[in-house]
Amino acid sequence: MQLLLDSAVIDEALIAAEWGWVNGATTNPTLLAKSNLSPEKTLEKLSQCFKGPIFYQLVGKSIKSMKAEAKLAAGILGKQLVLKIPATELGFRATSQLSKKYTCAVTSVFTSSQALVAHASGARYALYYHNRAKRLLENGHDLANELVQVLKQTSTIVVAASLKTPEEVVEARLAGVQILSTNLKVLSKMVQHDLSEAALKEFNRNGIGLVSQ
Ligand code: G3P
Repeated sequence: MQLLLDSAVIDEALIAAEWGWVNGATTNPTLLAKSNLSPEKTLEKLSQCFKGPIFYQLVGKSIKSMKAEAKLAAGILGKQLVLKIPATELGFRATSQLSKKYTCAVTSVFTSSQALVAHASGARYALYYHNRAKRLLENGHDLANELVQVLKQTSTIVVAASLKTPEEVVEARLAGVQILSTNLKVLSKMVQHDLSEAALKEFNRNGIGLVSQ
């Protein structure tokens, strides 16, 4: 199981990296536009923040331009690169070619049949939007579970994004999702509980340890 930061803002990446339990980052064109650096510089800095995967989403509109874009991204991110490729007819075609050379994630998966094609195309990951699925699909609550079931015992791993609360992170994990990507606010909320703070205060109030408090 891995937790990733869903952001391309370097100040946020630095905070998450400092925590030590966030492995890498997922980006998309909208998230990259929120960085005050160029996409190249942003990706370079993200790769310095984290040891784990950095997901970059292709924006090219043809196989030729996607191949050129993938080469550029690989030049910046090296082994950390995961190419996010949209779940479209063009995207699946690109995945089946690019997955021979790069680690690929088919993104914006909204059905199990797309997840199956992602696997057949050689994608290492199938990424779906948890909160969007719940809001926009009739049976969106079941999507995480279904994707995990259909990709069971295959080499393709389910990744959840669009996780809006710690409870949604847990929902996705309970469905069996292995990689969970969310924003800094949700990640920071995941560690907090008033009862944890209260218990700590209670035990520290009259207690002693190896160092002075
Ligand atoms: O990477 C962005 C993905 O998490 C979608 O999130 O908030 O636009 O549903 P949202």
